[in-house]
Amino acid sequence: MKVLILLGLVFLPMLAHGKVYKRCELARVLKQNGMDGYRGNSVDNWVCLAKWESDFDTEATNYNPGDQSTNYGIFQINSHYWCNDGKTPDAKNVCGISCRDLLTDNITQAVNCAKRVVHDPSGILAWKAWRNHCQGRDVSSYIQDCRL
Ligand SMILES: *[C@@H]1O[C@H](CO)[C@@H](O)[C@H](O)[C@H]1NC(C)=O
Repeated sequence: MKVLILLGLVFLPMLAHGKVYKRCELARVLKQNGMDGYRGNSVDNWVCLAKWESDFDTEATNYNPGDQSTNYGIFQINSHYWCNDGKTPDAKNVCGISCRDLLTDNITQAVNCAKRVVHDPSGILAWKAWRNHCQGRDVSSYIQDCRL
């Protein structure tokens, strides 16, 4: 019994598999996934966005009482439009994914959905934290000293 509990303590976190990215690690993964310059947004802008949306935590979730939607993951992608969490009224699921898939350490799905989000006319302005903390600022510090 004790052994099973110990094994659970060791392996359950691996099953849950979210993670908090390091700044430069995230910059590298975003670049590898084609985000540097995507729809005109340099990778430092994406890192700034993720910093202020989720503090680089893939497991971040935030509920919006107004429309009963939830924001998921490193880019805080919203369940009203983009993903399905099975509990958001009038949800569209434009990215065609489960919101849970936006919380994993592998951010490929989150990146793909973010790419879909910036294809809308408002582009990166869709993210309030980007408007409030990154827009019109020198964001180069977000990739400073990263080997990209
Ligand atoms: C991440 O997930 C994608 C599919 O969603 C897969 O193609 C890729 O190999 C995965 N990357 C790693 C490092 O596991």
